[in-house]
Amino acid sequence: MQEKKVFPDTFLWGAATSAYQVEGGIENNDWAKSAREGKVPVCGKACDHYNRYEQDFDIAKSLGHNAHRFSIEWSRIEPEEGKFDDREIEHYRSVLRALRERNLEPSVTLWHWTIPSWLDAKGGIEHKDFPEIFARYCAYVVSRLSDLATHFTTLNEPYSTVINGWVRGTFPPFQRFPLIALARIPNDKELSKNSTTDWGEIIKFFTLANVLARAHNTAYSAIKEIAPHIHVTVVFQVHYFNAHGNPFYKLVAKFQMWNMTHRYLKKIYKNSDSIGLNYYFYTDFGSKTNYPKTDMGWDLRPEGIYDAIMEVQRYNKPVYVEECGCADAKDAFRADYIRKTVGGIGKAIKNGADVRGFMYWSLLDNYEWAHGFDKRFGLVEVNYDTLERTIRPSAFVYRDLILSHSTQNMKKVQPSSFSSV
Ligand code: BGC
Repeated sequence: MQEKKVFPDTFLWGAATSAYQVEGGIENNDWAKSAREGKVPVCGKACDHYNRYEQDFDIAKSLGHNAHRFSIEWSRIEPEEGKFDDREIEHYRSVLRALRERNLEPSVTLWHWTIPSWLDAKGGIEHKDFPEIFARYCAYVVSRLSDLATHFTTLNEPYSTVINGWVRGTFPPFQRFPLIALARIPNDKELSKNSTTDWGEIIKFFTLANVLARAHNTAYSAIKEIAPHIHVTVVFQVHYFNAHGNPFYKLVAKFQMWNMTHRYLKKIYKNSDSIGLNYYFYTDFGSKTNYPKTDMGWDLRPEGIYDAIMEVQRYNKPVYVEECGCADAKDAFRADYIRKTVGGIGKAIKNGADVRGFMYWSLLDNYEWAHGFDKRFGLVEVNYDTLERTIRPSAFVYRDLILSHSTQNMKKVQPSSFSSV
């Protein structure tokens, strides 16, 4: 009974996707080029979500969701430098209308890692004007969609793209910092087989992270200038670092918390109306506990989301959990994972955190970047031959949790639930 009151009536419950991972038919960006060069798996038609979004939103609705996070594919909107494609804007307007008709509150991400080919050819995020070029694209999209959506994210997980692209060498442009070969990251050797190695990459990790902070800040100002009422945020993956016993471990954990989270958030939080938080990793220095693993080989520690949320309380902003999920092809532990995630979020709210939403990653099985289609994060299973969708049992567990935690159940959530602060 008491549990039911923990989550506010306006709490957003849903799932997330990203354009390249689900839409299909995207050929004009750096990932598609890398696939043609044999460096990453081909994405092809993916889940054909570009054509089947209505069916997918019907499923989300039937599962009790009242919100949905998705992203816009930059290469569709700006296929050539400075030339914007209004037909594609019309497509995303239809997507937004489809969400609104189902009372699914949209959370729109403007950049989920892919770079249009014309910009890739000029160096992508290494291009000296990247922040301004990105801000121009963001302002254009928001100017065309702001009557249908009020919550926009500029960048998804800026550090992940830099770490994977310039330190681990597993994402375009496949550059790898030599020492990383010593780190025990599962599957890295295979995934980074096409990378080039250079001692300069670690410097790039720091400089490009700064470029992506500037990109967010520039886009934030550009959006606010044309649409001050729009809620603008950044989505950041908070990798939580803890330590046991040894004071040296404690120091390292503190350093990593700063290095991997606060170093970035400090640069942008004044220009962010909330903190969009993704949670996947928890590292305990000095701990010998062997946690069960997801199909990605990642520790199963969903309850750690509590620490991740509390860690960003210092910014005094509302928090939206925009991703948290697990690859589990057999759907063996996903239900428990979701229960513990919701439990962790509830605990954070009880302890004073202003958490306003949870988007499970992901609504559908999808293209898991360098891993291709094998890793299955979906509440909904996708048969990639027939494109048939099958709802997994854990999706119903999530639905029941949503229903038990929301007194409003499936009532409409007003756009004002994304209020600017
Ligand atoms: C990314 C998703 C990805 C998920 C699982 C997140 O960091 O935003 O695109 O699929 O992690 O790896």
